[in-house]
Amino acid sequence: MRAARLHSFGPPSVLRVEEVAWPFPVRDEVLIRVHASSVNGTDLRLRAGGLGFLAAGQLPLTPGFDVAGEVAGCGPEVTAFRPGERVYALLGHGGGGAAEYVTARQSRVALAPATLPLTHAAAVPLAGLTALQALRGVGRLRAGERVLVYGAAGGIGAFAVALARLFGAHVTGVARAAKLDYVRSLGAHEVVATGELNLSGGERWDLILDTPPALPFTRAREALTPSGRLVSTKPVPLHPAEMWASLSQTGPRFTGVRTAERGLDLALLSRLIDAGELRVPLDRTFPLEDIRAAHEYAEGPEVRGKVVVTMVGE
Ligand SMILES: NC(=O)c1ccc[n+]([C@@H]2O[C@H](COP(=O)([O-])OP(=O)(O)OC[C@H]3O[C@@H](n4cnc5c(N)ncnc54)[C@H](OP(=O)(O)O)[C@@H]3O)[C@@H](O)[C@H]2O)c1
Repeated sequence: MRAARLHSFGPPSVLRVEEVAWPFPVRDEVLIRVHASSVNGTDLRLRAGGLGFLAAGQLPLTPGFDVAGEVAGCGPEVTAFRPGERVYALLGHGGGGAAEYVTARQSRVALAPATLPLTHAAAVPLAGLTALQALRGVGRLRAGERVLVYGAAGGIGAFAVALARLFGAHVTGVARAAKLDYVRSLGAHEVVATGELNLSGGERWDLILDTPPALPFTRAREALTPSGRLVSTKPVPLHPAEMWASLSQTGPRFTGVRTAERGLDLALLSRLIDAGELRVPLDRTFPLEDIRAAHEYAEGPEVRGKVVVTMVGE
């Protein structure tokens, strides 16, 4: 089968499309014939060598944490899925989604939204689950709260703006100036250009979601309510102020999100999408052969929302 592979880390030109061995489903694994996979910020960091310790020793490896496709086979312990069903999944740390076939444990799989082409569904898992778990999980967002989404035109950011609005929050989206109309179109009540964000101007938010992540806690703290939360896509605190604020029981808190590959949460996203309450922020698709161009586009200045790589035309 064909798969994109990295034999070394570096610019998009290190990506190659090659013939590799087929995966085989064992135990509770579902074999998925992949129609599409998406390019997440995590793929860009992985390819560039920025996830050093996670990727160490795994070369050559296939990027891609999201897949949408059809069940092609099941391990003997699979009870929840049958061959032919349309599914999507968030793969674990090994990735492997930019390939014609992949296996995933059934707990990481859900039925794909019935109302969406699989190309669109592939844009959902990592970004959608991270936004959901950051807001409703660690961020404990409640209706009526004020939320600021930093990096609002990125994959996680676009889902977070839409979900926070859906959950009844007042949403401020921060992105580069050229993308502010896009962020408004996602549902943000207010938008601010990244370079013009003033966190010490007296305005306060209950939850700040730092998606790039690029906001120091010492800066965000000034703009948080006394019970406010800075939720970062950095899974653990790295600075003393963040560590203290992650332990403290009083005052603004720091907390990191570590995305869980939970099929049940994906099923919730499917329901919201099929009910017409959540739109998928898909920007462009590229065939697998053009995965280098997909990465170049995804890390360029124009991208808005998600970039998807297709294995099968629809
Ligand atoms: N902890 C976890 O479990 C977990 C899970 C998923 C992802 N992540 C991490 O989350 C990050 C974002 O992922 P993603 O898929 O949303 O990436 P993405 O689609 O590439 O979006 C990142 C966004 O951040 C903005 N940005 C980048 N650098 C910035 C800076 N210095 N200041 C302000 N804005 C900046 C960019 O906006 P502009 O174009 O407007 O500049 C871009 O829209 C990645 O680092 C990823 O590894 C962590």
